[in-house]
Amino acid sequence: MTFDVTAWNRTAWDRQVARGNRWTVPVGPEQIAAARRGDWSVVLTPTKAVPRDWFPPLAGLAVLGLASGGGQQGPLLAAAGAKVTVLDLSPEQLAQDRRVAERDRLDLTTVEGDMRDLARFADGSFGLVFHPCSNGFVPDVRPVWREAFRVLRSGGVLLSGFANPALHLFDEEAAKQGRLEPRHAVPYSDLVHLTDAERARLAAEDEPFVFGHTLEDQIGGQLDAGFHLTALYEDRDPTRLVDQRMPTFLATRAVKPLLRRPRSPAP
Ligand SMILES: C[S@@+](CC[C@H](N)C(=O)[O-])C[C@H]1O[C@@H](n2cnc3c(N)ncnc32)[C@H](O)[C@@H]1O
Repeated sequence: MTFDVTAWNRTAWDRQVARGNRWTVPVGPEQIAAARRGDWSVVLTPTKAVPRDWFPPLAGLAVLGLASGGGQQGPLLAAAGAKVTVLDLSPEQLAQDRRVAERDRLDLTTVEGDMRDLARFADGSFGLVFHPCSNGFVPDVRPVWREAFRVLRSGGVLLSGFANPALHLFDEEAAKQGRLEPRHAVPYSDLVHLTDAERARLAAEDEPFVFGHTLEDQIGGQLDAGFHLTALYEDRDPTRLVDQRMPTFLATRAVKPLLRRPRSPAP
């Protein structure tokens, strides 16, 4: 029988909410009030705020928060004027978004689902897809880019955060003791590269299983889906040793090109 990583990660993220993982803690009413006044910022990666000029005008814009539960970016973008739909695998993560939306009366809908299958949304449904670091929880990332492209309208924007797979090269235990010891390979998978004992330890801590995709799949996958890449920055996770040597997170801005009408022949 094959292991159902999606079912595993759904439960793991539900439990991360109970554990208070930082990516599950919703924004407070003060942040929502400030966002309503135009004072807001959101992240795609561990620490850097996404530049404001990466966003299209948000007033009335249909925004999909893709694998973006936790009551964080979705509610802030809604307070800034967008009509937000948050899709996430974890019911408890989505409950965080709903709690903020009810508390602060925001235009926000939640949908439980897998980031690789957006069939419930018609082509061209959104003007912005906001996809913070989360595709490391699926074994195959290219369907995410294809679906994001389909559900965006022409001219729509995809903002994504993801890990540089170098993040996964080093032995985690050695890194906790201050040593960087190369151990794994890219593409990386917790299901393949860890020992049974290491996986059992992750399971005991309710940790989701992760995957380190190649940059060819992360950046090349966006280009192959049809996007035009317009901007990129890197970021560091200050809690990781390897990040003292290189940034291990990236954020990209990509645009679905406008449809070109065939030129009418000259008279
Ligand atoms: C690190 S959190 C990201 C959300 C957070 N608001 C942030 O600021 O980055 C990763 C999210 O991905 C979601 N997730 C994991 N696997 C998923 C899948 N296959 N489809 C949709 N969401 C998924 C988790 O439930 C979790 O909410």
